[in-house]
Amino acid sequence: MYYPEDLVEEIRQRNDIVDVISEHVKLKRSGNNHMGLCPFHNEKSPSFSVSGQKQMYHCFGCGVGGNVFTFVMEYENYSFVEALKYLAERAGIPLPEEEQNEEAKRKADLKTQLLEINRQAAKYFFYQLKSERGKIAYEYLTNRKLTDETIKMFGLGYSNKYSDDLYQYLKQMGYSDEILRQSGLVTFDEKKGAYDKFWNRVMYPIMDGNNRVIGFGGRVLGQGEPKYLNSPETLLFDKSRNLYGLNIAKTARKHNMLICEGYMDVIALHQAGFTNAVASLGTAFTGLQANLLKRYTDEVLLTYDSDGAGVKAALRAIPIMKEAGLRTKVINMRPYKDPDEFMKALGAEEFQKRIDEAQNSFYFEIEVLQKEYDLNDPEQKTKFFNEVAKKLLVFTEEIERNNYIEAIDRIYHMGFDNLRKLVNHYAATMVTTPTMIKKVQERSNNKRVTAQDSMRQASKLLLTWLIEDTRLFSKIKGIISEEDFDGELYQKVAGMLFQQYKEQGQVIPAKIINQFESKEEQNEVASLFSTTFQEEMSIMEKEKALNDLIYRIKKYSLDNRSRNVTDIAQMQSIIKAQADLQKLHISLADG
Ligand code: CTP
Ligand code: MN
Repeated sequence: MYYPEDLVEEIRQRNDIVDVISEHVKLKRSGNNHMGLCPFHNEKSPSFSVSGQKQMYHCFGCGVGGNVFTFVMEYENYSFVEALKYLAERAGIPLPEEEQNEEAKRKADLKTQLLEINRQAAKYFFYQLKSERGKIAYEYLTNRKLTDETIKMFGLGYSNKYSDDLYQYLKQMGYSDEILRQSGLVTFDEKKGAYDKFWNRVMYPIMDGNNRVIGFGGRVLGQGEPKYLNSPETLLFDKSRNLYGLNIAKTARKHNMLICEGYMDVIALHQAGFTNAVASLGTAFTGLQANLLKRYTDEVLLTYDSDGAGVKAALRAIPIMKEAGLRTKVINMRPYKDPDEFMKALGAEEFQKRIDEAQNSFYFEIEVLQKEYDLNDPEQKTKFFNEVAKKLLVFTEEIERNNYIEAIDRIYHMGFDNLRKLVNHYAATMVTTPTMIKKVQERSNNKRVTAQDSMRQASKLLLTWLIEDTRLFSKIKGIISEEDFDGELYQKVAGMLFQQYKEQGQVIPAKIINQFESKEEQNEVASLFSTTFQEEMSIMEKEKALNDLIYRIKKYSLDNRSRNVTDIAQMQSIIKAQADLQKLHISLADG
């Protein structure tokens, strides 16, 4: 980490979590906590809880949680350092200047160095485009009706005809061959030596949500193969979890997003005012991309090419979006192939009409399916009806399903009752849809892990209880220690908590979260401190609950240990501890 721990802690303390989150989420007081609608998943009743006392948040619906840094990182899609800078400024705390000398650059971690290399490369390509040598590429772009403003907005550039000028340029900035190889911008060949990956192409820098360049797409000028060359996957560039144009689209503040296939489509749409357009990066749409979209919107309009490949890609993407809880519609661009061509031919106003007329993706799926059957042939017609009935199984709620049956009947005249009977027949006899198969699998997986799950639930309860009532530390002393918790993360967190209490006589759970770097870990740690209790328990009930909890945790831990022990003396001490445990009684009565 760049900054001293004390400074990080001061910045955390000076930004009250309730204040910070209130700037983005409407919160309402409820007991000791503040509740609101979770900004990280779609919900109708509040399960997002913020605690002023713990300086933490946790969503009981989707499981996210953390301290004020975690929140800013997740909400703004910031790195830790970016969140730190943001919160330091908010609290008026000056940060030490970042050192920009050679030494500091070399010491920066690999990811930071790769980001800097990509940024320098993008600047270099942009400069080339504007130079005399780049005229051919600049003219290509203006012929495609891109304005200077658009070129600048997307940072488009040109990789010229020399085969190693970018390599030489970056070398002279002090970067080693090894790190340049890792950037994916330079290829090393035994015979040819080092040469640039991109050569005589129009360059599209690919940015992440924070406007940082993580890779490139390079398009051949005019005809040629391959049409697009993309950066390989690197430490920075993961094609499955980024979307082209998202850095701009996420701030568009429209109620939906447009997803299309190509870089040029995104650019043409943005230039026409549809700044909520994004594209996947030359690979099939993924679940991670769907989740990413879900952060910013509930509705996605598919603007895939209207050719066979585009329809196939749409059919593949629709269930993935549905799974992430997105409403999906399909835009009809016929007779044009893609948004870029459409815009040139008919313009923004006509495109807006197509947006307004976008078709519910279910009807789109049925329409595509229908084309495979000749409805004048009774046999094929029956087959089609059966396929439609199977598809209708994705609607698990009866009312919704009936609404769709009604709508489909209106289009294809199958008879509402006939179709419903058919659907019910399939519902009763088979478990065939991918989502249903997945649900069945999940259910059986769940059964397998229940013992461990319930133990972890008990550990969470104890950890939360400890921070809410620190008198418990002395009560469990000598009975439970960090080794009794199951799993590395639980042990680590418990260890830190016990240490805080021992050294300071108090606990600061929000500080513990800083010790974990990934968002996933931070979410999990926050969940350890955010269990809910039954509020109205008598002291007797509480005492019983606590004794149960300690008994279960300790027993699980001892049983585990006895299974792995080989030493006789150790075995005997475990047996003694197991016997002692039967006599366990912790009293809550005396203060
Ligand atoms: N693509 C790719 N490699 C190729 C062809 C396409 O990676 N050889 C990816 C690119 O991300 C491209 C997308 O697939 O943006 C869609 O392809 P296409 O429709 O051909 O691209 P456009 O962006 O429409 O390109 P242009 O209009 O410049 O022809
Ligand atoms: Mn195109």
